[in-house]
Amino acid sequence: MYVCLCHAVTDKAIRKAAASGCSSLAQLRCELGVASQCGKCARQAKAILNEAAPTH
Ligand code: FES
Repeated sequence: MYVCLCHAVTDKAIRKAAASGCSSLAQLRCELGVASQCGKCARQAKAILNEAAPTH
């Protein structure tokens, strides 16, 4: 499933980034470009990130 259409980023790609240490939306933006264009995906991207790597 695509989360970010502007950059064609899937939920799988976000989970993979989370697994390799990406723990914030800012980091995700740097790595994959998520939420760097229209921003519509930010909420969902963050939810997937939190689910994959809950912040303590
Ligand atoms: Fe992610 Fe537009 S859908 S920046």
